[in-house]
Amino acid sequence: MTPPRASGGRCTQDPDGHPLDLYYDTTRYTAPEAQRPALKNQAQAKPNRGVGVRRLDHVNFLAADVLANSDFHEKLLGGRPTEQIQLDSGRVAARWLSYNNKSYDVVYTEDWTGSRGRLHHIAFATDERNDFLRACDLAIVTGIQIETGLHKHAIQQTFFLYVWEPGGNRIELCNPLTRPVLAPDWPLVTWTEAERKKGQAWGLKTIETFHTVGTPYVS
Ligand SMILES: [Fe+2]
Repeated sequence: MTPPRASGGRCTQDPDGHPLDLYYDTTRYTAPEAQRPALKNQAQAKPNRGVGVRRLDHVNFLAADVLANSDFHEKLLGGRPTEQIQLDSGRVAARWLSYNNKSYDVVYTEDWTGSRGRLHHIAFATDERNDFLRACDLAIVTGIQIETGLHKHAIQQTFFLYVWEPGGNRIELCNPLTRPVLAPDWPLVTWTEAERKKGQAWGLKTIETFHTVGTPYVS
């Protein structure tokens, strides 16, 4: 069955082969009566079950060639690169791009298996960091595997928890620092190989599976 698509939708793909749906118009969400917010400037009442994530925040794609894919977003779609990892060899190993005033919406990370078109993770934002403590307890109650976190990324300074959902995809719960990108000439922040070896913001080492495991799985 073809999934429903926002009006004006057009399917394409990036150089790595990830399918992308482009659209220019959509229908704004109206919460059903039982989920109406108390304040009209909120989309929906805060959920009272589960983790209560607030919104989809960003998607992170694995890619055989990070620069080719980020160039596609920058030069064809108008994305702005805000941060990147550049190895001593000069190769760009990851790049974060923004389409609005959030500091990132799309990320490309190098796939060490050399595969193409794989997903690294989808991230959902919580209202506050306390939601992560509830998420951890819910994970052990429901048998959801925690991959890494709680911790804070050095890059973008995002507070994070990574879990594996039952379908086999990596999901991040994130609480991004409120750091709007307002300047049109926002400088691209480059992290070096030596800086990355220091690990995440508070010292947690980046786990090996971050560079090799994504969906679909490869052996
Ligand atoms: Fe992320």
